Amino acid sequence: MAEQLLYPVPEEWAAEAKVGSAAYDAMYAAAAADPDAFWLEQAKRLEWVKAPTVAGEWSFDEADFGISWFKDGVLNVAANCLDRHLATRGDQIAIIWEPDEPGEEPRRYTYAQLHEEVCRFANVLKAQGVRKGDRVTVYLPMIPEAAFALLACARIGAIHSVVFGGFSPDALAGRIQDCDSRVVITADCGRRGGKRIPLKANVDAAAPRAPSLEKVIVIKATGDDVPMHDRDVWYHEVAASVSTECAPEPMNAEDPLFILYTSGSTGKPKGVLHTTGGYLLWASFTHELVFDYRPGNVFWCAADIGWVTGHTYVIYGPLANGATTLMYEGLPNWPDASRIWQVVDRHQVHTVFTAPTALRALMKEGDAPVKATSRKSLKLLGTVGEPINPEAWRWYHEVVGEGRSPIVDTWWQTETGGALIAPLPGATDLKPGSATKPLPGVHPQLVDETGQVLHGATSGNLCLTASWPGQMRTVWGDHARFFQTYFTTYPGKYFTGDGCRRDEDGYYWITGRVDDVINVSGHRMGTAEVESALVLHPRVAEAAVVGMPHDVKGQGIYAYVTLNAGETGSDGLNAELKQWVRKEIGPIASPDVIQFAPGLPKTRSGKIMRRILRKIAENDIGSLGDTSTLADPSVVDDLVANRATLG
Ligand code: WTA
Repeated sequence: MAEQLLYPVPEEWAAEAKVGSAAYDAMYAAAAADPDAFWLEQAKRLEWVKAPTVAGEWSFDEADFGISWFKDGVLNVAANCLDRHLATRGDQIAIIWEPDEPGEEPRRYTYAQLHEEVCRFANVLKAQGVRKGDRVTVYLPMIPEAAFALLACARIGAIHSVVFGGFSPDALAGRIQDCDSRVVITADCGRRGGKRIPLKANVDAAAPRAPSLEKVIVIKATGDDVPMHDRDVWYHEVAASVSTECAPEPMNAEDPLFILYTSGSTGKPKGVLHTTGGYLLWASFTHELVFDYRPGNVFWCAADIGWVTGHTYVIYGPLANGATTLMYEGLPNWPDASRIWQVVDRHQVHTVFTAPTALRALMKEGDAPVKATSRKSLKLLGTVGEPINPEAWRWYHEVVGEGRSPIVDTWWQTETGGALIAPLPGATDLKPGSATKPLPGVHPQLVDETGQVLHGATSGNLCLTASWPGQMRTVWGDHARFFQTYFTTYPGKYFTGDGCRRDEDGYYWITGRVDDVINVSGHRMGTAEVESALVLHPRVAEAAVVGMPHDVKGQGIYAYVTLNAGETGSDGLNAELKQWVRKEIGPIASPDVIQFAPGLPKTRSGKIMRRILRKIAENDIGSLGDTSTLADPSVVDDLVANRATLG
């Protein structure tokens, strides 16, 4: 039987969706024809202290480079996510928290309770000397206090910088220091899949390398014994004596809201900066449109708040829209492969939004763990973070969704603030593996290597020719790097770093990164970062890292390592180096395979030919291409002969 390639909008969705196919076309056309009018109208979805009179003012050209949205508007993000809902839905559940341990009681917070918790947290921050514009590093597990902390920062105008709990003390120290953060909010320990993550101990280990750090606010989450130092305070102790009233700070639309570090093709991770008005508008607009959000629906984005998906679709988008958002502490497949669907049943989840890597891992366990659950409440499915292979897409659609729920495959980046290319469930016919069409205000363009614009059905590098409100505004502390990274490859355009195909229906198919970034389990990893970690090892002379195909992670990490003269590789050293990278960066960066290489393929000018290394890692030996320009072509034979495979 031929595979189904097109999945039309289901009839109920076509009939009932907020935005149908004609409405989508009309919106897209309106946003293109008069962006200022369109976005000033959309801005009314937020509550402003002072409404903006100007929309986007931007240029991607070097001479007058700059990006702003709603620059004369004044608002507060926490007031938009909390206070304005109190009159109409103060008693509605804002956050449902599902703990790691399946037997443990969930916690629920109404909007009124969440408001109180956030005000209390905001006063704790103030009591610790945090002021508007200060950077606050958040290193927390997926507990309700993480939501309180982010919204508390937003309430007083402090800039939060969340660091994923899986990052090492070194990676944490670098991120504290880069933005000169004086305060870290952490917990005694985190829990995930039944394991403890020693967050407080990691902060202690990071502290000597983060001289800006003055205060650590510690939340008692697990009750584990942790040593307290002079700089440490227990959250519950300070919180006991502060008021639960805290007026929201009026913020300019262009005041910073948060920094989030992300990997690029070169250098250290970049502090992506998002601002107040445009980001919140994009979070709210896309959450409502892409997920057709209606009051009463329980929305579950399974991402960790350490990533942008957790910022936009666990916290800001849903809460701005007065939604009920589910926060889950654990892993989708712990204690077993039914857990994710048990959580859906327990909380009557309407929309589940997760990463292809999680689906592939669950698919491996077969259909029985899914079929053991009801999933009757589930009406909409979403994916994000990496291309989804059609096989996983169909499994999600048929087995999980029983064929009734559309899948919204959302393409976006930390830099874009929220989804840019994604179907609308009531408007867009679906094709498995395609993120389908751009949202209103999004103008994709495909170009070839020389920057030549490509038209019609074709493949190329994905650029965006116009700004949208949720676009990042700068790299923290390095505006020149912002311009250099995104706007110089193809002058006058934002370059995404992704390769993409556009088909005859104008659908976009993201093919993956075309730069030296790899996507491991939906997490971005700079190959240069892993290489830097490897060469710090005393026995390593040189390292080159590329991606390799991996059936669960999407991409795995393949490292070629040249040892110092006189050293020889061994299984022991192989394991030691993997452990080393874990400690330097975190478990997500640990190489899947390491090949000891006496030499790396270099041009006569000394540049490593990564193209060849990628082909060997992909086991695509037949198409290595011309190797005659190498300084020493014979190294390739050795690399091919000793190719490493997943163990
Ligand atoms: C990839 C995550 C294909 C892409 C929101 C992008 C995707 C990078 C998709 C950004 C998708 C994200 N289909 N690829 N639906 N979504 N990507 O910054 O390569 O962690 O550039 O943001 O993930 O990763 P980031």
